[in-house]
Amino acid sequence: MAKTYGKITGWGAYAPPRIITNHELEATLDTSHDWIVQRTGIHARHVADANETTSTMAVKASWSALAKAGIPSTELDLILVATSSPDYFTPPVSSMVQSMLGAHDVPAMTIVTGCTGFVYALVTAYQFIETGAYRNILVVGVELLSRFVNWEERSVSVLFGDAAGAVVVQPSDEPCGLEGYVLGSDGTNGQAIIMPAGGSARPFSEDVLQEGSHYLQMNGREVFKFATRVIGPSCDEALRLAGKSMADVDWIIPHQANLRIIQAAAKDMDIPLDRWIVNIDQYANTSAASIPLALAESLESGRVKPTDTLLLVSFGAGMTWASAVLQMQPN
Ligand code: UT7
Repeated sequence: MAKTYGKITGWGAYAPPRIITNHELEATLDTSHDWIVQRTGIHARHVADANETTSTMAVKASWSALAKAGIPSTELDLILVATSSPDYFTPPVSSMVQSMLGAHDVPAMTIVTGCTGFVYALVTAYQFIETGAYRNILVVGVELLSRFVNWEERSVSVLFGDAAGAVVVQPSDEPCGLEGYVLGSDGTNGQAIIMPAGGSARPFSEDVLQEGSHYLQMNGREVFKFATRVIGPSCDEALRLAGKSMADVDWIIPHQANLRIIQAAAKDMDIPLDRWIVNIDQYANTSAASIPLALAESLESGRVKPTDTLLLVSFGAGMTWASAVLQMQPN
């Protein structure tokens, strides 16, 4: 039987209109524009207003992706939503998105692997496409982390922003799609990115509220070291599995956590920075949304073409890592 490939036929992104610059943060936090730019490359972040939730942002990006693909939401066979900042622990945000899209009875699941969530979800989508189990799959990466950081504490709050990105994957007879991928997890150092309370280990209480231990905490230096250690090898392995070399790659789309991490990886891998898609300056770290947001934005600007060979690479909470060699559409 002929192999079924997966083609990305639609993409879309959404970032809330409210932009908070580093200079604005200087007014309320013991921080400075210069510190944030020098240490991270971030100039501004988009932050959701009170009317927005994770699901409403996911739905906005999804409608754009569905419109581009030219299929109604009722034609979807599967919805995958990657996020670590859902509307609720339960119901799953994926079911909320499914309902809000009017995609009646379509299976939906939430993938919670931190910043690697979109790549994990995309790889999952391709398994269903390539086996022929499902034909039309919506994959969303969305994050509303501004509600999970302590805005009175400088070390984490300045780093994150809110956004959503989505793609539609459909079958294709012509060669394209996910050519090689690596997914990894090492929970031994999971404490490096943690929301210590609010879950079963430490349920919400007065003490939790007073301590603020329900907010996101991060050991920045540990995560930085981890990220620079895994990016190169996971890219090399995905390329090896795809039977390709770095010379075949048009664009690398990395998770946008810190410009210095991207610069270190570019140096380490000897790939000039102008082949890396970078938009952290305007959006900060949008976790599971960062790759689909950067992808949709660079496709819309025409910088990236759907027939280009892409290398996606991500790392984050878990600790997890994920990389994928992707050709969205046949040549
Ligand atoms: O997406 C999930 C994955 N996350 C990441 O990849 C994040 C990885 N880590 C990083 O990006 C960096 O480690 C950070 C940007 C989080 C921090 O940069 P750093 O160069 O590792 O700084 P640091 O944490 O070692 O802190 C250096 C200094 C400290 O002061 P002292 O102890 O040297 O006096 C901090 O208190 O900078 C201080 N500091 C700040 N100063 C001004 C920390 N946050 C701030 C701030 N403004 N916002």
